[in-house]
Amino acid sequence: MAGKGDSREASLSFYTVFCATAAALASFQNGYSTSATNIPANSIRACPEGYQQNYPPFPNCLPMGDWIWGFVVGCFALGGMIGGLLAAPMLDKVGRRNTLIVNCLNFIIGAILLSLAVHPAMFAFGRVFVGAGAGMGSVAVSTYIGEIANKNQRGALGTINQTGVVIGILVTQAVGLGLGGIPSWRYLMAITAGPAIIQAVMLLFVPETPRYFVAKNKLEQGRNSLRRLRKGYDIDNEYDEIVIGQRAEAKGLDPSAVTDGNAPVSDAELDQVETGNDGHQSRQTLTIFGLFKDPYTCRMTMVCMMVHLAQQLTGINGVMYYSTSIFTNVFGAQAARYAAIGVSGWNLVATIISILTIEKAGRRVLLLVSEIGMCISAVLLVIGSLVGVNPLVVLGVFLFVGSFAIGLGPIPWLIVSELIPTYAVGAATSIAITLNWLGSFIVGLVFPAMQAGMKGWAFLVFAAIALAFAVGTFFFVPETRGKSMEQIARELGAQLKEGGTGVRKPSKVGQQ
Ligand code: GLC
Repeated sequence: MAGKGDSREASLSFYTVFCATAAALASFQNGYSTSATNIPANSIRACPEGYQQNYPPFPNCLPMGDWIWGFVVGCFALGGMIGGLLAAPMLDKVGRRNTLIVNCLNFIIGAILLSLAVHPAMFAFGRVFVGAGAGMGSVAVSTYIGEIANKNQRGALGTINQTGVVIGILVTQAVGLGLGGIPSWRYLMAITAGPAIIQAVMLLFVPETPRYFVAKNKLEQGRNSLRRLRKGYDIDNEYDEIVIGQRAEAKGLDPSAVTDGNAPVSDAELDQVETGNDGHQSRQTLTIFGLFKDPYTCRMTMVCMMVHLAQQLTGINGVMYYSTSIFTNVFGAQAARYAAIGVSGWNLVATIISILTIEKAGRRVLLLVSEIGMCISAVLLVIGSLVGVNPLVVLGVFLFVGSFAIGLGPIPWLIVSELIPTYAVGAATSIAITLNWLGSFIVGLVFPAMQAGMKGWAFLVFAAIALAFAVGTFFFVPETRGKSMEQIARELGAQLKEGGTGVRKPSKVGQQ
């Protein structure tokens, strides 16, 4: 009946890319709002005399001092944390796809509040809403994509998430050149509603994930969803692997006891297996606290938290927010805006390079290259600015962004759903991504002060942090490329049981 072969080996189809793209419109919104206040900052807050009340009831400009403005910009990351935390129960209760649909409302409400703001507080609430949309979106997109992809597709589909963010940053900066003035910044803010509406419509044509249906015991719907996603392929083995894997989890079994590597054990065989020592008869979807009680999910959640913190604390948003000011010394104010757009364009190019290499190079290698590359380029940047060699500063910034984009940009978004079993993935993604937003908030908050206080030395801090995370990655992040989730759980579970770290045999774990 299914001529193309085993669906576990299926490569990307137009439809899976469509589904992932529909989800990743939330990532586009994330990027768009990340940089939306960048270029028009002065038009929004630094009101020239006489501009404030030109078109009542909407003032052309909302006067805000440095602190208030910093807080208002930061409200985006605060909203991100709230959205990230709310995502776990939403994903579990209403499903992955429906969470994404409901989440569109966050962007629409945010767009209304931002574009029609009559007071800084209204603008701040708007930032919280778009932030919540971005935060909830980042959890839901990673989960959704991780669960519709098979092992061959997951790397490339997972990078669509970060590609969406990066395109969003680029678009908002480009649009900001035209709509960054007074009072056109209101249009820049209103635009956010457009992709949200398009996304809601596109999502009507994508399925809920097969893994979610199976987790909710809606087996027939799970099978249909998988059939839709793998049109033309024989889905029996993949479906069995999902069902058996989840049944084993529900019995509290060690993942290593479940499958033999190629074919999943049969349902009947599974019934013969004793339940685990902890006596679990059924396993509920884990809450955030539950994650840390289970040794396997606890260890893997810590790895995910580390990778997400690394994404932010290595300082990428220091560049994303302040590249214009870094370049102003080099090129002058006008050209610096274009140079900043150049950095965002380069960010996109390097992200695409990552998409093309991720399945060959693997996650672990790209993360290490990324972190070491960021460390070296941050040092170049420091040397360049200390000795006043501008080309070195420019080279440093481009290398820094390129190194980030090749690994630390996309990989955190996809690795959580690879390392964490379905029953725990909602909670783990939520906690890792909430930390990510916390990191983003901290960097956004302290970077201006760091730059002012430490001058050319500021990036040395990021160099040291990048090096520390490279060491952490080397010791704790296992390779997950080319394996089904069930296989990853089985192998890592076995290694941890023997007292290993999950990367004890990187060459073996990395092969396939
Ligand atoms: C990642 C980060 C985000 C950053 C972006 C830059 O998506 O989560 O904070 O702005 O990369 O490309």
